[in-house]
Amino acid sequence: MSQQRDHWNSNLGFVLAATGSAIGLGNLWKFPFITWENNGGAFVLVYLVCIAAVGLPIMMAELLIGRRSQKSAVGALKAVAGPAWGVVGGWGVICAFILLSYYTVIAGWSIYYFARTMEWTFGGFPSGLATGDLFNEQVSNAGLQLALSLSFSVGTVAVVYFGVSKGIERIARLFLPILFGILLLLLVSALRMDGAGEALSFIFRPNFAELEPDSVLEALGHSFFTLSLGMCAMITYGSYIARHHSIVKASAMIVVLDTVIALVATIIMFSVIFSVAGMSEQVGGSTVGMLFISLPELFYSEVPFGVVLGPLFYVLVALAALTSTISLLEVVVSYVIDERGIARNRATFLCGGAIFVFTIFAALSFTGTPVLATMELFAEKVGWFSTADHFVSNWMLPTGGLAITLAAGWFISRKVSEGELVDGNQPRWFHYPTWRFFIRFVAPIAVASIIIAVLFGVDFS
Ligand code: PHE
Repeated sequence: MSQQRDHWNSNLGFVLAATGSAIGLGNLWKFPFITWENNGGAFVLVYLVCIAAVGLPIMMAELLIGRRSQKSAVGALKAVAGPAWGVVGGWGVICAFILLSYYTVIAGWSIYYFARTMEWTFGGFPSGLATGDLFNEQVSNAGLQLALSLSFSVGTVAVVYFGVSKGIERIARLFLPILFGILLLLLVSALRMDGAGEALSFIFRPNFAELEPDSVLEALGHSFFTLSLGMCAMITYGSYIARHHSIVKASAMIVVLDTVIALVATIIMFSVIFSVAGMSEQVGGSTVGMLFISLPELFYSEVPFGVVLGPLFYVLVALAALTSTISLLEVVVSYVIDERGIARNRATFLCGGAIFVFTIFAALSFTGTPVLATMELFAEKVGWFSTADHFVSNWMLPTGGLAITLAAGWFISRKVSEGELVDGNQPRWFHYPTWRFFIRFVAPIAVASIIIAVLFGVDFS
């Protein structure tokens, strides 16, 4: 393609798009759940350390690789670290492909719950409705699952089709303020509930006696997922940054926003849960439990202004998921555009269609479909969905992350990385030698320890 590369129209637009990628189901769905499982307090503190010591330096590394090369995953790593590193870019593209294929399924559930909560808001919450049964019914309904996933995929394709500034950036500029607004409303309402105090002390009062070694690794693994690192998404977004914007400032903003949103979402959910007697025993069961089983009902029985906030909450989940799915599709599409010379509109349909084939497998994992529902490649990970999630979270993200970290710390010259980070616009607190130390030593050791733990059987999915 000899056309000029599309760029973000403004720094704010870029920061919002990258923040949109980072904020997703990881913040609203996974983080509250693992905080719950790991007894809050100390885990949250460890998570914050992981974000600052490992997530932030790698965020800067990915963005600088992208901006320096002005190329997507494969081309970028080849250009900055050497031809052999193209493989790592290819690994990232495959990882984005697989993650997008099943992420879309959960994203689709938010559409379903939006529709149901709208119904309840106008028609009243059906008395005696068991939300656990409702959840099982919807996931096991093959036609419904396919329709929901297809709708979400079409939405994702529609945004990426219009490109970086006219599609992704525009949507981020529109949706992220809405997302922040909805969260703020939910937070105000949640803080007025009886359980708010208990929720805050659960989240912010560390008790190190409760911290287990595996929790540290879980916090580390999640910091990758939540910041969209390890699969070249930030390399790809970085390749559309213009020269005069500071990567350091942008990285800090993205990381802070992502973390604040994860904490706010957790405060909201726990305030609700702690307000209801007996609820805390019920939620423990599964990741989906909180978001799709406990909360829907509580909006109608406990939460102040829940009739309005219920549907809004699922709009929030859908918007957060969409701004993440578009970044995943962009990793794959931009690779096809740059390396295969296919025009964006064709590339988007081609990639979107190919990924949707695998979305079908993931969507049918809960419907009793032979093989898809029963396969067990990894012990105790039954079904296509869990297999794919396990493979991505445990194997692809940490290995991709390690390779990117090594490339940035050891294979890109100091001149290049310093030139990108210390560009005259960097904030005063930034100290390049400290970044270099973290990216060369701290981050690789931390990520390698995840891989070692996985080899010894620890599970991050
Ligand atoms: N960061 C997203 C979340 O928290 C997930 C994601 C990972 C999106 C990698 C894009 C790339 O949900």
